[in-house]
Amino acid sequence: MSPTPADQALSAAVQAAADRFSARNPRSAALHAEAVNSMPGGNTRTTLHTSPFPVYMRSGRDFRVTSEDGHVYTDFVGEFTAGLYGHSHPVIVEAMRECVATTGLNLGAQTAHEVTYSRALCERFGLERVRFTNSGTEANLHALAAARAFTGKRKVVVFGGGYHGGVLGFVGGKPGRNNVDLADWVVVDGGYNDIDKATEAIRGEGVAAVLVEGVQGSAGAIAGSFEFMRCIQIAAKEAGVLFILDEVMTSRLSPGGIADLYKLEPDLRTMGKWLGGGLASGMLGGRADVMAAFDPRSPGALTHGGTFNNNTLAMYVGHAGLSKIYTPEACVQLNKIGDDFRNRLAGLTKGTKLCFTGVGSLLASHFTDEGLQEIVREVPENAQLKDLFWYEMLEDGFWLVRRGNISLILGTDEGELNRFCESVAAFLERHGDLVKVSPK
Ligand SMILES: Cc1ncc(COP(=O)(O)O)c(C=O)c1O
Repeated sequence: MSPTPADQALSAAVQAAADRFSARNPRSAALHAEAVNSMPGGNTRTTLHTSPFPVYMRSGRDFRVTSEDGHVYTDFVGEFTAGLYGHSHPVIVEAMRECVATTGLNLGAQTAHEVTYSRALCERFGLERVRFTNSGTEANLHALAAARAFTGKRKVVVFGGGYHGGVLGFVGGKPGRNNVDLADWVVVDGGYNDIDKATEAIRGEGVAAVLVEGVQGSAGAIAGSFEFMRCIQIAAKEAGVLFILDEVMTSRLSPGGIADLYKLEPDLRTMGKWLGGGLASGMLGGRADVMAAFDPRSPGALTHGGTFNNNTLAMYVGHAGLSKIYTPEACVQLNKIGDDFRNRLAGLTKGTKLCFTGVGSLLASHFTDEGLQEIVREVPENAQLKDLFWYEMLEDGFWLVRRGNISLILGTDEGELNRFCESVAAFLERHGDLVKVSPK
């Protein structure tokens, strides 16, 4: 089928924006050209690759980042939810200094700091036991090992669009090619927020666990409904299947995470991101009888090694952030700001192909040709409009995830949220016919 005039106009607008991008970012282009000589595709973190080349950042301060090309951006990437505290928060910097000055880094031993931090996490999130890892991916891998050890079964129910780590991805409704345990996934494709499909899968033969996000982050901040999440919990309990709630992104959405917001009682929860205070960290926790699988005093316990599991810096800094910065009050306030922001954006996008989804401080933009204003599971999107939006928001000084996610940083200037709303309105106005939903 030959392209319509509208298709041609959109392609021309994207190409013009890409050309402006290349012209504005010569230093990033040069760094990329150098990087391809030592890293495949010049990349060591797939999510950060963008065409024609990635933007290289030079530094960050509070809620802003400055690129190698000298452009200053309001940081809406927020390190994919991990950068909650912004750049060089004084409490975080002080905790780092104190740790290096008084404790040191690699002591090859257990320290009092992991006792303090594990207790704080148990109290805040209502966990009976917790263990530390180096990432959210690892937290999920070990949570699955515990569930398999506890139930004696192997299969795991997950949802299309779910993302649980670098080797645990289900975006597009299929396990990633480099996923672990390829024989064991029961992927409920198109089943997020579908109670019947979820229940049927959970009742299947040989299922050890259901692993689910309360808000699908990588799929674009798609909220699980309260009813859906409750039904998963009930179906899992009835079937003797463990309910593992992946809170790697959502633990920041209420003082006790999304489990607290939705009044859920998962058997296990996995977390990470902001809870490392900006350092590599993760954790899994929940029922003492399930977590007992790792108790090294028991013969035959699961091994959960990891040189850096309890690294002093993450223990110190994670605890300082949780106890001194992201207090329950600060958490409620930030998520209220996020809800208000999303509601304002929703007011601007009616009748267009653009919408914003999310919960609290996690949002994402979506472009669908039908002009959906509510999205409950992965849907096909207009990739060209997504690209155009990204290029033009960058030109307006907003650093965004290419696929559309926004994670608000604490202390982001309210004026910048207003300015973003104005930029979105101007984008929709500027591209009138390209973004309006055509009448059927
Ligand atoms: C919901 C969820 N689970 C797990 C992970 C993996 O965490 P990490 O990148 O720390 O391995 C991510 C990362 O984006 C995530 O969003």
